[in-house]
This record gives sequence, C-alpha cells and structure tokens, in this order.
Amino acid sequence: MIEKSTLRVYDTTERLHLSAAELLVEVMRRALSEQGTCSVALSGGATPRLLYHHLGGPPLRESVEWERVHLLFGDERAVPPGDPQSNYSMVERELLSRVPIPPGNVHRIAGEKEPTEAAREYESDVKEVLAHGGGKIDCVLLGLGGDGHTASLFPGSSALREKSALVRAVVDRRTGLGRVTMTLPLINSARRVIFVVAGKEKAGIVRRVLRERGPTVRLPATMVRPPGGEVLWLIDRAAASGLL
Ligand code: 6PG
Repeated sequence: MIEKSTLRVYDTTERLHLSAAELLVEVMRRALSEQGTCSVALSGGATPRLLYHHLGGPPLRESVEWERVHLLFGDERAVPPGDPQSNYSMVERELLSRVPIPPGNVHRIAGEKEPTEAAREYESDVKEVLAHGGGKIDCVLLGLGGDGHTASLFPGSSALREKSALVRAVVDRRTGLGRVTMTLPLINSARRVIFVVAGKEKAGIVRRVLRERGPTVRLPATMVRPPGGEVLWLIDRAAASGLL
C-alpha cells in the first residue's frame, strides 16, 4: 500500500508535467548543492514528453547547471537512435537538443547494438556514474505500463528476480522487440524514484498498483521500493479516477 503522502494528484495533465519538471529541477539543484554532482535516469514512452519539453525550455532550463548533471536512461528499445520508437530520440528532441549539457554527461543505451552487448556496455557506464555520485542515482523517473510494467521490467520476467546485475537485456513479449533495462537492484538503490502517470487509460492499473499490499512479479511497478529512498507518484486526475 503506497502511503497517501507519496501520492500527488494534479487537476490537469499540463499541471502534472509542469509540476513534475519543477520538482525534478528542485531535486537536481539540491543534489548539486549537496554533492556537487547529480544523476537522473529518464523514463521513456510517450508520457514524459511534455515534462522534458518544460525542462528543456525557459525558465526551468536556466535554473539547472547542466554541465554538472549526468543523464541516464531507465530503459531503451533495441532500435537505432533515429528510430521513432527510440526513447533516446524523444529525449534528444524534447530536452537534450535544447540544454547545454556536455555530450559526455548523456549516457545513452546503444539501442542499435545487440541487447546483451548494449546492456554490458551500459552497465559499466552506469557504474562509472555511480562511482562519482556516492553509489546512488539521485532520481529515477519511471512510467507505468497498462500491464503494470515499469522501465522494461515486464510482468513475470526473469529480470525481476535479478539480484546483482544493474542492467539486463530483455524481450518485450508484446512485440518481440528486444530491450535494455535498469534492474530492480539499480532502481531500488536510488535516492528517489518518481512515477509520472497520466490519462484515463491508466486509471485501472494505477488503482491496482497503488492498492497492492506488497511487491508482486505480476505488477513489476509494485517491486519498486528503494529501502533508503523515497517513492513519489505524480498523477493527473484522469489517471487517479480509479482511486476516488
Ligand atoms: C518504455 C518505458 C515504459 C513506459 C511505460 C508507459 O520504454 O516504454 O520505459 O516503461 O514508461 O510503458 O508508457 P507510456 O508513457 O507511453 O504510456
């Protein structure tokens, strides 16, 4: 059961994304002032597009010292960066192309490579970032799929039982497409996890996940429980309509 205090409901999708972007800036600024660096793992899919657009434009863009921020990806589809399905492509368009972040601070998952090779390379990249950030990602942004998946951790996947690897190659059984995903050991080591969920079509799954008593492989999002971190759910009223 997710405590009420970790759930924020916004009247409109626009307000949700603006508030989520403002909160992310606050998290980044605090990390930069406390530790001199900041790492954020970005979620993919369609939902966060507007959030990243707000983040990449005035006034929020100007309030972040991008040269000290490291951006990671929670997951990626096994497609080249130019592909419309690529999470990197969406982030590049909405955010990376509009902020002065050094290319070396953007840790892309090589979707164009064979997934197990891309996972191996990304894991060593992530470890490098962790080594400079006190061993934890400051904030992991996550979305929620209609089947309860998050990142590319799908219901019943063997990746859900992973205890040590930080990154795994998986297959999205819905499409047969390969993916690379952060694992629960990595996500659950984060200082903060923020779920951003919008739309009426997510009302049913939001209700199921937030009402679930404990972690279950049937609903991977329920397994995101960083022992030393905070989980925040930011949802719009449409996605919350199953809770009322
Ligand atoms: C992905 C995401 C995935 C996404 C959910 C929600 O690569 O697709 O990482 O976990 O967040 O599937 O997707 P939508 O925002 O498109 O509904």
